[in-house]
Amino acid sequence: MNLTNPNIPEDVRAVASNGTQLRYKMMELTVQYPDAIALGRGDPDLATPAHIIEATTAVIRQGRTAPTPVAGLPELREAVAHKLQRDNGIAADARNVIITTGGQEALFLIMQVLLDPGDEVLVPDPRYTSYDEAIDSAGGKIVLIPTDHADAFNLRPEAVEAAITPRTKAILLISPSNPTSGIITEERLRQIAEIAIRHNLIVISDEIYEKFVYSPWKHFSIASLPNMAERTITLNGFSKSYAMTGFRVGYVSAPVNFIEAMAKVKAITTGPAATVSQWAAHAAVTGPQDAIAEFHRIYSERRQMMMDGLRDLRLDFSEPRGAFFLWTNSSPTGIHATELAYLLLKEGHVLIFPGTAFGENWGGYLRISILQSTDLLREALTRMAPIIARYRANT
Ligand SMILES: Cc1ncc(COP(=O)(O)O)c(C=O)c1O
Repeated sequence: MNLTNPNIPEDVRAVASNGTQLRYKMMELTVQYPDAIALGRGDPDLATPAHIIEATTAVIRQGRTAPTPVAGLPELREAVAHKLQRDNGIAADARNVIITTGGQEALFLIMQVLLDPGDEVLVPDPRYTSYDEAIDSAGGKIVLIPTDHADAFNLRPEAVEAAITPRTKAILLISPSNPTSGIITEERLRQIAEIAIRHNLIVISDEIYEKFVYSPWKHFSIASLPNMAERTITLNGFSKSYAMTGFRVGYVSAPVNFIEAMAKVKAITTGPAATVSQWAAHAAVTGPQDAIAEFHRIYSERRQMMMDGLRDLRLDFSEPRGAFFLWTNSSPTGIHATELAYLLLKEGHVLIFPGTAFGENWGGYLRISILQSTDLLREALTRMAPIIARYRANT
């Protein structure tokens, strides 16, 4: 599908082929509509749990704000290692963990340490396009692995293996996925692990949405499989699980030498993550976990509501197995998703990211996030309905 509409402003058109810039441009345009309903970004709208806020303010009041070691607050590294053993079955101790300034920094540090110029990283498509930039910044090359709607965007081991070349360094996995909300099932992860071992590849596993997986699906960590911890770099963080995006705390677990190499790069770039935020993360991971169950309940309800609403609009979507997105087929409207997203914003004051914000192949999809109250989600659907119907009628 081509971007043909002459009414799309030049500044949108100019960034249409760069997913990350397109997302930022759409958010910038949204500011002019005070009544806009933002279903764009993937940052939880829910409040950070009270006990985490209390622990954070106590740390500030007590002046415990001195910088931590570069790899992170020792107590937090320890607590995260314990969490990895308990929740993920990953054999990790504190030395296998580095605390980063969000998962975002972790991505860049991983690629800087891992890649030599020309190294190839296999990445499922569609994708969180920060991967592209992180790989590119290290001189690496992204190689896309197609995933498809008929397969609920699960990753096919045969497709992974077919893309391997002598330059392949790593396979990047994301489950649950941003943007599709699909998961990679345990059975497929086991097959992918065998491929990684057979071809001596590293696996980077982005598990930032792990806590939000919907029944009957289950999260599974590939690093928990035999002989995988030594070749797996697991990325995670506090932004999604605990609604702590603004605290900016992420972490990586990997073999000790890799963590040490990451810390060296971190020392000369950002230094340690903010001390206060690390204590907040410590309170999150060591304190009561019931907030996650409550968030899960809220997202499940919204997910159901949005699925019903999209069915009413006669739009087909991939039923989310995790995360907080409805990856929706917009091709029945007959117009390119970038145009449709622009019109939904301009006319309906609803911000939704076009599929092209997650890769150039996805001009027939929208990513609708459910990070608003059910009332606002309902209102967004009401605003979308006439716009969708108008274009459907034209096709
Ligand atoms: C797939 C994925 N990985 C990593 C991140 C980084 O998140 P943060 O830097 O807030 O930890 C995000 C943020 O949206 C994401 O969607």
